Amino acid sequence: MTVSTGPTDEAGPLDATTVAELRQIIARYPQSRSALIPMLHLLQSVEGRVTARGIEMCADLLGISAAEVSGVATFYTMYKRRPVGTYHVGVCTNTLCAVMGGDAIFERLKDHLDVGNDETTPDDGGGASITLEHVECNAACDYAPVVMVNWEFMDNQTPESATRLVDDLRQGKEVRSTRGPRICTWREAERVLAGFPDDRADDGPAAGPASLLGLRIAREQGWSAPPTEHAGGTQNPKEGS
Ligand code: FES
Repeated sequence: MTVSTGPTDEAGPLDATTVAELRQIIARYPQSRSALIPMLHLLQSVEGRVTARGIEMCADLLGISAAEVSGVATFYTMYKRRPVGTYHVGVCTNTLCAVMGGDAIFERLKDHLDVGNDETTPDDGGGASITLEHVECNAACDYAPVVMVNWEFMDNQTPESATRLVDDLRQGKEVRSTRGPRICTWREAERVLAGFPDDRADDGPAAGPASLLGLRIAREQGWSAPPTEHAGGTQNPKEGS
């Protein structure tokens, strides 16, 4: 398959291989339109964004209107209508990360990269390009402030560490998530989100110490969940008292 992963504004080829893979995705679901979400990720892995011709292709394959496909592609922020750089760097500026330093990280990266929100550094024909975006809470608040590169976590960041991070990415150095996995390109990550896994699914821990702290304390204290009145455990214990 021809998948361009370079920092380019040009769309890649939506060729017969892509169509065959889109059909593979559709075949996973009893209702074909359920396949739309991963189909759009696959298109992004090929074209670097969701294009008008990608929308038409999904509509044709699913037997739905282009407006319905477009409605999904424009609703979710993970779908991009403008070309994304080699790496997507998302800075969480939701409440907890913001007060823990996320706002400062975002401002530093804007200055350092000389781009605004949802903008991409120029393709100078050399190093990798970066798309910077402020993102909402990614349920990693226990490691605030967090930065995500192609949806891989970089925990407990500072303006300095985030600056080093984007410099390393632009210089083509190998970068690993603070949780272990090697950072791939945005297009490679999009292919995984389409359901075509790479070999990194088991890299890194499933949950880190900060996430497991409450469980550890409960075990040390001998605490357990309160019993429910019914087998199956669906009733709130307060309702039965
Ligand atoms: S507020 Fe940033 S991960 Fe939750």
